[in-house]
Amino acid sequence: MEATTVSLEPKPAASAYSRKNPFLAELVRHDRLTGQDSPKDTRHFVLNLTGSGLTYTPGDALGVFGRHSPELVEDVLGLLGFNGGTEVNDPKGQPTTLRQALLREYTVNRANRKMMTALAERLPQNEQRNRLLELIANSDALNEYIDSRDYVDILREFNEARFESPVAFLAQLSPVVPRLYSIASSIQAHPGEAHLCITVVRYQTHGRAKKGLASGFFADHSDLFVKNIPVYIQESRSFRLPKDGSRDIIMCGPGVGLAPFRAFLEQRVLDGATGRNWLFFGEQRQATDFLYGDELLAYQRQGKLHRLDLAFSRDQAHKIYVQHRMLEQAGELWSWLQNGAYFYVCGDARHMAKDVHQALIEIAQKQGGLSPEAAADYVNVTLMKTEKRYLRDVY
Ligand SMILES: Cc1cc2nc3c(=O)[nH]c(=O)nc-3n(C[C@H](O)[C@H](O)[C@H](O)COP(=O)(O)OP(=O)(O)OC[C@H]3O[C@@H](n4cnc5c(N)ncnc54)[C@H](O)[C@@H]3O)c2cc1C
Ligand SMILES: NC(=O)c1ccc[n+]([C@@H]2O[C@H](COP(=O)([O-])OP(=O)(O)OC[C@H]3O[C@@H](n4cnc5c(N)ncnc54)[C@H](OP(=O)(O)O)[C@@H]3O)[C@@H](O)[C@H]2O)c1
Repeated sequence: MEATTVSLEPKPAASAYSRKNPFLAELVRHDRLTGQDSPKDTRHFVLNLTGSGLTYTPGDALGVFGRHSPELVEDVLGLLGFNGGTEVNDPKGQPTTLRQALLREYTVNRANRKMMTALAERLPQNEQRNRLLELIANSDALNEYIDSRDYVDILREFNEARFESPVAFLAQLSPVVPRLYSIASSIQAHPGEAHLCITVVRYQTHGRAKKGLASGFFADHSDLFVKNIPVYIQESRSFRLPKDGSRDIIMCGPGVGLAPFRAFLEQRVLDGATGRNWLFFGEQRQATDFLYGDELLAYQRQGKLHRLDLAFSRDQAHKIYVQHRMLEQAGELWSWLQNGAYFYVCGDARHMAKDVHQALIEIAQKQGGLSPEAAADYVNVTLMKTEKRYLRDVY
């Protein structure tokens, strides 16, 4: 009989810290993973959780409350004509300043519909008001309008609106919600730490550079060695390594979808899992975007990563994606699945995960000699529901 190893079960929450009462973690490492010439900006962050009692299992995510950029908040304050030092209450009713409330508590980098109505009510009867009322009356146009604008764009455009007080403005804003990041480390490999792999959201609309609240905060505004990042652990219900370490695993994680698989690999190595590990990773270009490339190649050399299939989409004239690599390796992939392997996919839900799902069905059809219906049933029911060895963490 083959030796089996058992990976750790999720632990009951031993910590006093949670989404409602986040721990103030300290950033202790910040490295850029993508090269200078890459259009992507993907970074590695290490947070120190020492003293929190927080623990996690590979597959879990870290919930993080980000902060807006000070420039964005100062621009909004300037447009409103309010003093940032004015005392206000935060959404929990705790006293703070207007500046701090805009930095940490309310969403300023994305607009909401409620604010548009509030602005219209505060515009004099004129062309600006008519234009805004027309926009509000057309739901699709309104969605499209607010989708690409922050409050600086909007307050500049409707600059005749006047809020009577900071409280009247805050009342229209949406409270900040935390962002989740797959934890890219095993806590046993890195006691007291959580590693994150974050791609920074940056884009340009209406002539201004914009950035994501949490990813922009980590990249541009977080300080090293200061305990000030509110975090908590978001346990995964099902995205877990097999309990039986002799099972093979196939991991499909292009882009930052790689993050939980770095944790999986660390854990499998520590557990002495005897099952084989197969990773499909994809990014734009090998020279600049091979995230954790040195680590992955070292695992491969050491025989800890048994198969590594890479899909660098822009290194040739036509796109090559992870699902193309899966289809190239269809026979081998099918034999791993037939042998009881677990299949994991993490990353983009909109396109990649759907295409990977279709590729699995195609492999079941061609390699398993199944009809299209039987192949879909094998993937959707047998693998996913009955045997629970096709697990997804897609967003
Ligand atoms: C379970 C889970 C795990 C995750 N793990 C990771 C991870 O490991 N690494 C990682 O990087 N992310 C991960 N994410 C995504 C992460 O939670 C955030 O959604 C992401 O970092 C963006 O958050 P943000 O605050 O930086 O951006 P936000 O402030 O939320 O802004 C993002 C929004 O900006 C808008 N936007 C973006 N680009 C444009 C554009 N070109 N034009 C107009 N509008 C645009 C879009 O509306 C987009 O929704 C995960 C998500 C989930 C649910
Ligand atoms: N909510 C948010 O604002 C937010 C922010 C950040 C990330 N995310 C999520 O995180 C995901 C990962 O982002 P990322 O920047 O690390 O990587 P990504 O955009 O998923 O790109 C990684 C690789 O996947 C390729 N790819 C594109 N379409 C694909 C498809 N249909 N099938 C397979 N591969 C495909 C890309 O190729 P090409 O680029 O050459 O086409 C690239 O080589 C995002 O797609 C998004 O879902 C969300």
